[in-house]
Order: sequence, then C-alpha cells, then structure tokens
Amino acid sequence: MKVIFRYLFACAFLLEVQSVFAQIETPIMGWSSWNTYRVNISDSLIKRQADAMVDQGLKGAGYTYINVDDGFFGYRDEQGNLCTHPKRFPNGMKAVADYIHSKGLKAGIYSDAGGNTCGSLWDKDMNGVGVGLYGHERQDADLFFNQWGFDFIKIDYCGAGQQLELDEQKRYTEIVKAIRETAKKNVSVNICRWAFPGTWAKDLARSWRISPDIAPDWGSVRAIINKNLYLSAYAGEGHYNDMDMLEIGRGLKQEEEEVHFGMWCIMSSPLLIGCDLTTIPESSLNLLKNKELIALNQDPLGLQAYVVQHEGAGYVLVKDIEQKRGKVRAVALYNPSDEVCAFSVPLSLLELGGKVAVRDLVKQRDEKKIRDSLCYDVPPHSVKILRLKAEERLEPRHYEAEWAYLPCFNDLAKRSRGVAYKPYGKASGGMIVSNLGGKAANYAEWKEVYSENGGEYRMRIAYVPAQGNAREVKDRRLEVEINGQKTCITELESDPAKGVCHVTLPIDLRQGYNSVKIGSAYTWTPDIDCFTLERPVKNKKN
Ligand code: GLA
Repeated sequence: MKVIFRYLFACAFLLEVQSVFAQIETPIMGWSSWNTYRVNISDSLIKRQADAMVDQGLKGAGYTYINVDDGFFGYRDEQGNLCTHPKRFPNGMKAVADYIHSKGLKAGIYSDAGGNTCGSLWDKDMNGVGVGLYGHERQDADLFFNQWGFDFIKIDYCGAGQQLELDEQKRYTEIVKAIRETAKKNVSVNICRWAFPGTWAKDLARSWRISPDIAPDWGSVRAIINKNLYLSAYAGEGHYNDMDMLEIGRGLKQEEEEVHFGMWCIMSSPLLIGCDLTTIPESSLNLLKNKELIALNQDPLGLQAYVVQHEGAGYVLVKDIEQKRGKVRAVALYNPSDEVCAFSVPLSLLELGGKVAVRDLVKQRDEKKIRDSLCYDVPPHSVKILRLKAEERLEPRHYEAEWAYLPCFNDLAKRSRGVAYKPYGKASGGMIVSNLGGKAANYAEWKEVYSENGGEYRMRIAYVPAQGNAREVKDRRLEVEINGQKTCITELESDPAKGVCHVTLPIDLRQGYNSVKIGSAYTWTPDIDCFTLERPVKNKKN
C-alpha cells in the first residue's frame, strides 16, 4: 500500500514539475533563407527547402520553422499596400505560408523597423526601398499575420538606424504593440539590431540578435561566441540571445561545426539552419540531428550556460539542465585558440560532489566516471560538451560579477560611460564589471544566491579601485543590498595600483534563493570582480 502511495505521489510531483516547465517556450528551431541565398529567393526555392526539411528527417528532429528572410519585397501600391516581388513570388506569400503549413511546419517572415530593408543597402535590391514597417506597422501586421498567416517575424534595423536614426527601444516597442494589437495569433518576434540591445528586449521579443551577421568561417563563429559569453543573465523564462543563423553545412571543418552547433545549443540560441537542405553533407546533417545536443538547447529550464572558469585560452561554461539545482549539469570545455588547451576543473567549482558520471554529448558516448576534477586536453578550435551526473549538488560559494544581471547594460556603444564587462587580467575569470552606480537603477543583481539552510555568512567582495580624478575615486562606495536590506561601505581602497582589493561584511541569507544587489545611487562604485560567501566559524557545521 505504502509503495502505491509513494508511486502516486511521485507521479503527481512529476506532473506538477512538467506543468511548470510547459509554460516556457524553448528557442525556435528551423531554417532561414538568408545565409545561402541572400535576396535571391523564390517561392519554388522556399517550397523545396520545406520539402527537404521533412525528407531529411529534420522536422522529426524538432526543426519546425521555415523562415523567408529579405528578398520577397516588391513595392507599395498607392494605398500603401505591400506587394510581393512579381518574379520571385508571382503567387504571393499566402501561397508560400499555406504550403509550409501543409507540411506541418511554421512560417516566418522578415521586415525592417525603418522604411528600407538591409538588402536595399547592402545587396542593392531596390525592391527593398520604402517597404519596411515605418508608417505601415498595423497595415503590414494585418497582412503578414492575418491575411498571409505567418507565425514569426524577424525585424531588422538598417532603415531605422542607419537612415532614420530612431531610438531602438521606442521603435521596437511601437512595432511590437502594433503587432500584438493587430495579429489574431501569437506571433514569435525576433529583434535584429546586431548587438545586445538592452534588457527591454525580453519584454517585446522571444529572441534578439547580439552580434553582427555570421559568415561561414571560423573567425566569425568564434567572435559571436565571444559576444555571448557574458550575456547569460539576460536569457531565460522563454527569451533568448540569438547568435544568428547556423553556418553548418557551408564549409567549416568538422571540429568547428561541432563548436558552432554545441555552443549554440548550450547557450540556448535559436537554431536556424542556413544551408541548402537538399545538398547538405551527411556529417553536417547528422550533427544537426544530434538528439542529445538538441535536448540541451530545448531543455525545459531554458537557461544559457555561463563562464565558470577562464584560464589561459580555455573557457568552461556550465548550466543546470532537467532540474534546477539538481545533480545533473551540462558543461562545455571550449578552446577557441590555435593550440591544444589542457583543462583541469575542480568539480567543486561546478558545485558537484562525490562520484560523477560523464557523457560526451557530441560523440554520444559515456566516459569514465570521475571524482574531484574534470580534466581533458581539448584540440584547437574544438569543444567538449558534457553531461555530468553527480552524487551530490554543493552549495555555491562564489559569484562572479560577470554573471550578474545589469539592468542598464546594452552593447549598442552609444554611451561613453555605460556599465560594461571589461577584461582585467588579475580578476577571477579575467573579467570585471565597470561603470556601475551613478544612479539608483545602475546596479548589479545576482537574483539566485542560494543557501541550503539560511543563516549568517561572511560576504567577501573583490573589487578594483578604478581610475578617475582624485575626488571621484574618493567618493566611490558600495551599497550592498541583501533581499532589500541595504548596507553602505565607504572605507575602500582608492589606489588603482593595488589591483584586486577585498572588503568583508557579515550578511544574513534566507533558505533558498536570495537577491544580492551591488550599486551606488549617487556616486560610482569601484569595479567589481566577484564575491564569495563563507560561513562564520561558529556556524561551520551548517
Ligand atoms: C541584416 C541581417 C541579416 C539579414 C539581412 C537581410 O544584415 O542581420 O541577418 O536578414 O539583413 O538583408
């Protein structure tokens, strides 16, 4: 009897867990026309790719979107109605969307926040002039989503930024409001501003581009990964950093394709294939269909891996999968350099204890069980993507500044003194957060500082006294807020030559998750490296 009750209880618990997860949308998976065809697309080409998506088994592997990028535009008629390219799409776009839907797939479309498309600027496609959303927001939303039936839109910024110099947040807010009020279906929106646009993006879009356009070469893949290394705090709850469409199947070396796909998966980027699906090389197709890597990307927690160790050329990234703060974690040992990189990662850094089972997700094979540390030599331009299952999950005691959520951060390079991630050799992880403070909103927040039992800790903050005029440096302070309780530290080292300095304060954490904020409402803070938590001696047994 007891056993039956336990079984029923376990089932109820699982259902509960599933229903919580069911609410999070995972990154979209599909195909997009831009990388291979640029503006040279047509209805027959798009249909062939939709056919191949099914025939190659990609639909079965989870790829569902067929996205028409730039190139379908014709002109606007006298009433401002958008007409499609008469030669490339003679039967209009509804027929294309209908065909895609008839294959059990979803259909995506493209436009620009301004008047002209990027293709009109860079590909000299004159049909892209005057066809953007500017001044036609509701009219186009009705056409794209209600009349034609598209499910997704990518909204580019060439016409809006380079030609009209509009404000990103204001412009995308207007457009998305028009879409939400007009479309009779829930449209998936992608913001394409080629840099992390700001924390407002998650209120408007499922995903946002964080980098310039990808190209089918190693330098481009590496540069995009580099852009995304410290953006994990902005992804989550069904909203994602978009690392751009995949260049797999377009000539990269095998190990570089593995880095490309593996890192897009562990960083929870949308996965939009960009090659010709009818001629895709077999090894690329197999990689794109690797179930275990896809599961990492489509994991129900929807988290982006963050950098937990950066020593020499190598980066170690980690994220929870399957269950938050559970005993299973995904890890990437990423070597972007041209030399072999020897990784040695203490398992305590990954918050794992006891014996740990290791599975290589690229090779899809189990490795030897480990204890204490994870050691691999990783060849140049390569990655190991691993699933670790431990006997124990340890309480975290170390929090890097570069993991924090910075509400005022963006990568648009428009402000001279905006809060930013800055390399600093002597800092742990080689990275600090600079230009914090100056106003109440400009703080760093660690939203999930975890304590098993709650109680007293000693918080040791590592900071770097920043350069500046003497008065300003002297005024720097740290306002530390634990679950809304603020302490102000004014006695700080002011000589930048001292490098990384420390200050310690006693704090109280509650059991479970805590919010820790560091900022300074009126003056600047010194640059922040990280903080660590220790139990005071009298409480050591906790
Ligand atoms: C921009 C985008 C690309 C693509 C082209 C189309 O460059 O970033 O992804 O959509 O425009 O012209």
